[in-house]
Amino acid sequence: MPAPLRPLHYDMTAPKSLDGSPSPFVLNCFNSVRNVPSNLAADVACGYGRHAIFLASLGYNVACIDRDEDAILAISGSTRNANGEVSGHTFAVRADLSLGVPLKTACLGLLIAVHYPMLDLVPNFEALLMPGGYIILETFGGQGGNWRQLPKAGYIRTQLQFGFELIRYAERRVRPAGANAVSVRGFARRQ
Ligand SMILES: C[S@@+](CC[C@H](N)C(=O)[O-])C[C@H]1O[C@@H](n2cnc3c(N)ncnc32)[C@H](O)[C@@H]1O
Repeated sequence: MPAPLRPLHYDMTAPKSLDGSPSPFVLNCFNSVRNVPSNLAADVACGYGRHAIFLASLGYNVACIDRDEDAILAISGSTRNANGEVSGHTFAVRADLSLGVPLKTACLGLLIAVHYPMLDLVPNFEALLMPGGYIILETFGGQGGNWRQLPKAGYIRTQLQFGFELIRYAERRVRPAGANAVSVRGFARRQ
């Protein structure tokens, strides 16, 4: 089993297309990440890879999965730590996630999916993680008509109920009230 990954340095000057800092929720989860079973990670619907690049700066090799070819090609490569040493790699996986996540079963130590309507993908995520692997999920908020793509209250929690130990989970109801839609932040470990 690989040694636990220690945060090294988030290199904001790395020669990559950055579209912002990692989500504060994601950063916060990393305070509790220990003994990750593999340094292969995935950033699902990565966009321009703010989380993929963060993960690579910690030493992970990261599958950057998105249907936007320009984005994933812009971010694939190596990421260096504060000493200029290569810490991890990002590699492009072009895919339409509505068809599932095209990775091997039980290959990942960590999976992040942020701001993607991941409604039916949680069972797929579970299958991709090794026992002891971590999942960090964060939906978008309820701005405008976004609520239509958000889960119903309790839905993601139910999906994470079996096969995962829930470390953190929070739902926030969004408008319109009658829609029963919620934004979700979840952090869990595969059993
Ligand atoms: C709002 S961005 C989020 C990017 C990134 N996760 C972040 O937090 O910055 C949503 C991303 O989902 C991708 N996406 C949306 N639908 C997709 C699909 N069916 N298959 C693959 N990628 C998809 C888009 O290309 C876009 O890059």
